[in-house]
Amino acid sequence: MSLSIKKSKRINELPPYLFAEIDRRKRAALARGVDLIDLGIGDPDIPTPSAIVEKLLEGASKPVNHRYPNSSGMTEFRESVAKWYQNRFNVSLDPGQEVVSLIGSKEGIGNMAVAFVDPGDVVLVSSPCYPVYHIGTAFNGGKNYFVPLKKENNFWPDLDAIPADIAKQAKLLWINYPNNPTAAVADKSIFERVVEFANQYNVIVCHDAAYTEMGYDGYRPMSFLEVEGSREVGIEFHSLSKTFNMTGWRIGMAVGNPELVGGLAQAKSNLDSGIFQAVQEAGIEALRLGDQIVEPSRKIYQERRDILVDGLRAAGLECEKPRATFYVWVSCPKGLSSADFTAKLLDEAGVVTTPGNGFGDAGEGFVRFTVCVDKERLREVAERIRRVKL
Ligand SMILES: Cc1ncc(COP(=O)(O)O)c(C=O)c1O
Repeated sequence: MSLSIKKSKRINELPPYLFAEIDRRKRAALARGVDLIDLGIGDPDIPTPSAIVEKLLEGASKPVNHRYPNSSGMTEFRESVAKWYQNRFNVSLDPGQEVVSLIGSKEGIGNMAVAFVDPGDVVLVSSPCYPVYHIGTAFNGGKNYFVPLKKENNFWPDLDAIPADIAKQAKLLWINYPNNPTAAVADKSIFERVVEFANQYNVIVCHDAAYTEMGYDGYRPMSFLEVEGSREVGIEFHSLSKTFNMTGWRIGMAVGNPELVGGLAQAKSNLDSGIFQAVQEAGIEALRLGDQIVEPSRKIYQERRDILVDGLRAAGLECEKPRATFYVWVSCPKGLSSADFTAKLLDEAGVVTTPGNGFGDAGEGFVRFTVCVDKERLREVAERIRRVKL
């Protein structure tokens, strides 16, 4: 006799997987022997700096690190996060109450809803967005209300357009600058407006700051916590993943309002046992070295960005030159949907991109390119796309 196995409602109710068609076309192209260039994933191809790797090797051989870590992070790691925030953003944090380590920011983003969202609660989520914000809500029985990010508004949320009855029910608001997938950046005025909105409607602000270190041409993106009143209403998620080319290591942090950080830490302590201490020791080294090791990657991404954007524009495509992130958000040529354009790029140029609507309905009409391949390949991308009839 076999069991009747049923997945939970939350899994069965997940939105349709929009990338399935792309995956199918990718497999078919590979089977035909096509030399695909994959600009679909936002995962640095540059290795983690060797000073960080050496710290891991050193830490891995210490027996004290072989035991369970604390789920909120070693005191030394939290202190080094506070020090980094002080140096980088001039933001003072109490490492005991205003910093928690995360097993990558994705983990904390998901667990934020475990800590703060009850069934029926409304969560305001930008669209398009990194999907974990709304998946977290849905897994915990909350209701997502999507706030479109439109080109004419700098891809900032138009908070005045949220109906008052929705705003009154809202518990959390998710924002993310520099933004994935649009590559938009925030300035102080939008963060100030967010603080005002949060106070008006009693809404918790969750700012995802994963890309603040990938700014180009001397531009240094700000932290939400630099804005007056932000600590009263908000929590910021950050990560060592993109900054130090450490996506595989799983280390990040949430900082800000002590009640929010404490609530998240409480949820986590019931679900996980923290980050391998040797990885935290390597993280401390990464944060200590800071810009010294980030600047070389920034230069590489900036050069790649220029090659890709210039090449795409020469091929007749419309896109802004991003001031931050490793994404380029390209408008679809007239008459093509995001899915059509992505399929055409894959089938006719062997270039893998991500359809904008995969990040939410408001991403329709765009396609996201990354610069996570070397410059020769990016020149080839431009050359191949130039040959496609658009
Ligand atoms: C906007 C954004 N936030 C968070 C993450 C998660 O990063 P990690 O879990 O590696 O810290 C990503 C990863 O792509 C992202 O794009």
